[in-house]
Amino acid sequence: MSGQAIDTDCMTLTRFILAEQRKVPGATGDLTTLLTAIQSAVKAISSAVRKAGIAQLYGMAGNTNVQGEDVKKLDVLSNDLFINLLRSSYTTCLLVSEENENVIEVSSVEDKCQGKYIVCFDPLDGSSNIDCLVSIGSIFGIYKRTTDGAPTVGDTLQAGRRLVAAGYALYGSATMMVLSTGQGVNGFMLDPAIGEFVLTDPNMRIKPRGKIYSLNEGYANKWDDAIREYVNSKKQGPKPYGGRYIGSMVADVHRTLKYGGIFMYPATADAPKGKLRLMYECNPMAFIIEQAGGKSSNGSVSILDIQPEAIHQRSPIFLGSSEDVEEVLACIAKHKQ
Ligand code: AHG
Ligand code: MN
Ligand code: MN
Repeated sequence: MSGQAIDTDCMTLTRFILAEQRKVPGATGDLTTLLTAIQSAVKAISSAVRKAGIAQLYGMAGNTNVQGEDVKKLDVLSNDLFINLLRSSYTTCLLVSEENENVIEVSSVEDKCQGKYIVCFDPLDGSSNIDCLVSIGSIFGIYKRTTDGAPTVGDTLQAGRRLVAAGYALYGSATMMVLSTGQGVNGFMLDPAIGEFVLTDPNMRIKPRGKIYSLNEGYANKWDDAIREYVNSKKQGPKPYGGRYIGSMVADVHRTLKYGGIFMYPATADAPKGKLRLMYECNPMAFIIEQAGGKSSNGSVSILDIQPEAIHQRSPIFLGSSEDVEEVLACIAKHKQ
């Protein structure tokens, strides 16, 4: 009789990152420490999303928990977790969060708290889906400082092409972390039995063409003609594309990575730069998709080649299977003539 099917040599995310680190001569281990901090934040968010402390989050206690403190909303809780764990990892100097108007400076060099990394994050993406229990996620991008002296906002304004690592966590029917350190993309599922992320999707690649388009069609009357023409073309012929739109970027992009196709948040008449934020939504997701062999664009250049001018700036975005993205770009170019 064989025993229980427990992998006694499993590839956890921490083990994977450590092995990657050893391939880089002179690596200090700081990136490994930083990614461990992100993992801890994600595990805690996942637990909160799964309503592990149901009484604390909703429950009988109403708006206050047993200690009489105000119960934090999930996006505030997620932001606090990211900030506190990144700050105490001693590896970061500046943090950019969707939830904070200004850049957060991690305590000064004198306190020896400051590290060389800059992290941009959306602690909880898809907040409109929280209350109906539809998939939500967290997104992060990691840069290295390129200047000396006191860090400034300018240090954070780096193009996505300079990302050292980026990834996302998806709180879906399972919790998954997808990560790239610039050498392809790997996916890790959270095994609740051991509380560890385990490598389940090694070397993820996106199909060159898919069969799904994904965008909020409610805004069709506000799109440019090019987008209307492109989306309409996907509905024609004997094999029209399927339409899927969850309304959580992480979930929509993860499906696009797994099944192929195209995800779009184009400009609209009301929002000429679209809705999604360049530094902590578009860039990390574009980095993952390009590392998996796909394509990203704002309609004219790769998302990763945009030079940011402000931390919360928005950008239209098209990303996914390369042939699908090229097709929408050709349609946009045609309409510009
Ligand atoms: P957030 O919850 O962090 O504010 O972001 C929500 C975003 C993104 O997840 C999604 O793709 C998009 O908003 C949906 O916007 P629409 O409702 O306009 O389609
Ligand atoms: Mn978001
Ligand atoms: Mn958010």
